[in-house]
Amino acid sequence: MTSDLNPRAGAILTVDLGTVVANWTQLRDRVAPADCAAVVKADAYGLGVARVVPALAAAGCRTFVVAQFEEALAVRRALEPVAPEAQVFSLGGLPAGCEGEFIANRILPVLNHLGEIAAWRAFAQSRGEVLPAVIHIDTGMNRLGLGPDELDALAGHPEWLEGIEVRYWMTHLACADEFDSPMTGEQRDRFRAALARLPKAKASFANSSGIFHGKDHHFDLARPGCALYGVNPTPHLPNPMLGTVRLDAKLLQVRNCTVPMTVGYGAAHKVTGPARIATIGVGYADGYMRSLGGKGHVFVDGVAAPIVGRISMDLITIDVTGLPESVVHAGRLVELIGPNRPVDTVAAEGGTIGYEILTSLGRRYHRVYVGGE
Ligand SMILES: Cc1ncc(COP(=O)(O)O)c(C=O)c1O
Repeated sequence: MTSDLNPRAGAILTVDLGTVVANWTQLRDRVAPADCAAVVKADAYGLGVARVVPALAAAGCRTFVVAQFEEALAVRRALEPVAPEAQVFSLGGLPAGCEGEFIANRILPVLNHLGEIAAWRAFAQSRGEVLPAVIHIDTGMNRLGLGPDELDALAGHPEWLEGIEVRYWMTHLACADEFDSPMTGEQRDRFRAALARLPKAKASFANSSGIFHGKDHHFDLARPGCALYGVNPTPHLPNPMLGTVRLDAKLLQVRNCTVPMTVGYGAAHKVTGPARIATIGVGYADGYMRSLGGKGHVFVDGVAAPIVGRISMDLITIDVTGLPESVVHAGRLVELIGPNRPVDTVAAEGGTIGYEILTSLGRRYHRVYVGGE
């Protein structure tokens, strides 16, 4: 996998579409008979919509979820040759005056407040048609969606939905990855209570972690994102998902330090005795966060080598003193993310979450896609 590095690239990012598909299939089977969507916002969590969407569509996925209209257009383009009939939701609502573009591109708006519901209804009536949409009920997130007052008002005025085909009522979980939190059950109960007051339609509830709370959290459509890409949806248990990305970076230079000296910006790392320091061609401009400076390891030929000093814009330094000279040489590849360094481990070391590591994956990496046919 690592021998075909573009000789000009500082690092190679390998995306395994086969494991993305296997992760989706696992979740699909877990939620059946409910349906399983794929959340592909932020360029499929950094892995690349143009490749991820066709692979998932070929595996049978027929619902794709994004955050913004422009992302929905990219998903539509990717779906065209494989599954043009698939549905695409845009979570970020209905920007004023854009109703026609949603219809022209067969993108379902997620209507987040009564104003958007009124605008969609007026547009449907102006066309003399019934138009589909998803409607978001807020059950505790306090971000987007109809709050309690708006829910009361809508429940009392079902005619406000005339001209709208409610494809799904949806809500979103605040604490699904905290399995001892009462919040998920409370949101489920509030969602059920809301559904009982509204015209009957399908319902969408669980994100990745929500799926693992059991059948009574699946409703009609699950919306996993991070688990598709290998982030652990059950942080208190071993990861049931497969890793999907591998990042290997090139060693640019190896330096023997014979006297006490310092390494990198701020002279943040001090070498006290004989040591060997190697420099890698990846930095914070590639999404390898500055907060990872002096933390964690990379793997050289399967052996851990600690990251030392600060992360620079384009460079990382590692201590390879304990490694045989035969494996540490300029041009060889070292593992920054992969089987020895799962995304969640790198994230924990950097004080963040796997989502942020993935969605920050750099544009300078030479990308290779494998699997997924
Ligand atoms: C509304 C909504 N549904 C589903 C998801 C997918 O969540 P996850 O990546 O935790 O599975 C997200 C992600 O932020 C979201 O905002």
